[in-house]
Amino acid sequence: MTVKHRVLVVDDELSMRELLEIVLESAGYEVHCASGEDEARAAMDGVQFDAAMTDLHMGGDRNAGLRLLAWMRENDPRMPVVVITAHGSVETAVEAMRLGAADYVQKPFRSNDEIRLRVARVISERNLRRENEALRKDQAHRSSPGNMVGKSPAFLEVLSMVRRVAGLPSTVAVYGESGAGKELVARALHHLSQRAEKPFVAINCGGIPETLLESELFGYKKGAFTGANEDKEGLFVVANGGTLLLDEIGEMPMKLQVKLLRVLDNNSVTPVGGTASINVNVRIVSATNRNLEEMVEQGDFRKDLFYRLNVIPIHVPPLRDRGEDIPLLTRHFIQKHAVNMGCPVKEVSPEAESLLLRYSWPGNIRELANVVERALALSGETIEPRDLPPAVREYAPPPDMPLADLPEGGVNLEAIISDVERKYIEQALERARFSQIRAAGLLGLTPRSLRYRLQKYGLSAQD
Ligand SMILES: Nc1ncnc2c1ncn2[C@@H]1O[C@H](COP(=O)(O)OP(=O)(O)OP(=O)(O)O)[C@@H](O)[C@H]1O
Ligand SMILES: [Mg+2]
Repeated sequence: MTVKHRVLVVDDELSMRELLEIVLESAGYEVHCASGEDEARAAMDGVQFDAAMTDLHMGGDRNAGLRLLAWMRENDPRMPVVVITAHGSVETAVEAMRLGAADYVQKPFRSNDEIRLRVARVISERNLRRENEALRKDQAHRSSPGNMVGKSPAFLEVLSMVRRVAGLPSTVAVYGESGAGKELVARALHHLSQRAEKPFVAINCGGIPETLLESELFGYKKGAFTGANEDKEGLFVVANGGTLLLDEIGEMPMKLQVKLLRVLDNNSVTPVGGTASINVNVRIVSATNRNLEEMVEQGDFRKDLFYRLNVIPIHVPPLRDRGEDIPLLTRHFIQKHAVNMGCPVKEVSPEAESLLLRYSWPGNIRELANVVERALALSGETIEPRDLPPAVREYAPPPDMPLADLPEGGVNLEAIISDVERKYIEQALERARFSQIRAAGLLGLTPRSLRYRLQKYGLSAQD
């Protein structure tokens, strides 16, 4: 089915409106006419036009058209506007172009084809711009499993789980802190499945009103409510054959949880205001940073829906629990941002790296990506501590060491400090699986000063 492009024609002369209507309708457009500014505004209320043509001099007002043009540019900046100018009035044409008109035609028209051509051109230019925007957005979001960086045991476990379950039809529930990489996991599940060529559709269940979420998910029939001017397909239908990510599922209102459960049980959706159901075949992945089990216990999430979604749970660990991935991800983001920013790929100084390793990363990988982007912009040849934000630079892991009272006879301070130092270094090495860089990060030391201490205590480590 091809959709007709909709054009709004505004002119105070009836004969001109009729002429344009006939010319454009014969070229396959759906034409709406308005005889002046107010009618044009009313016509645009709730209706999306693909282009508008407006006369400039209307109802004895020389500025009516320019005013309307400015209003249109503000109300629907993507709708191209072609202005109709009187023959010889070059200045007004220039002024209209300056105000954002996409093109102009002079009266009397040279030919009907000229009108059709200009309208067709501004619409195709607009479509191109829209496609480019969509493409850019998609590229910014698209991440194949190849883009997933990490080598820590915790991360590799997630990856192997993703590989094992990608091909199954079962629902997957992805858990993890904000910015930990839940959406990336969901996309990887899609790309590694037989559904890869079909759509991957994501919807955020938090932050949009319940009725809107309902009509987004399930669609609606024309006339279901005010403003439902035509049928709209729900995302279950849009994602048919592919994967639907229900992001922030913990925020889904109770009423919709019931409806969602019904859809999952029957593999069919009924649009709002409709009676007939549509069969769908969609792989459901949900994601949340909330503890759903706890929400179930507290009565904030339906138990039956929880079990239906939680068939295969995947837990994405927070970045602070996979320190080995930090240097790798840092390099990954340096490369990525350097390309975008048109700057050279830079090294990270050992001092800066140990700060990155020590920090707690409440915003996880997204926060690291932002920190790297900022550092690239600020740094010279190498990324140094001064290029990192204060939160990272000045982060001190919370101390929880109870200090004993000074004994009567005094202490041997040097010996105590050495003892504490040695014990912490041993623990850090073990936790860092004997990586010096990571151990230095855990201790707030530079790799160089850690090496000095290792020698001092006769300890050894790798790398
Ligand atoms: N393993 C990884 N390798 C490379 N980049 C990653 C990795 N994990 C996450 N990212 C990047 O980190 C950012 C955050 O990831 P994502 O959007 O998947 O997190 P999220 O858990 O869905 O976050 P939120 O809870 O805020 O929605 C994205 O830019 C993503 O591309
Ligand atoms: Mg997300």
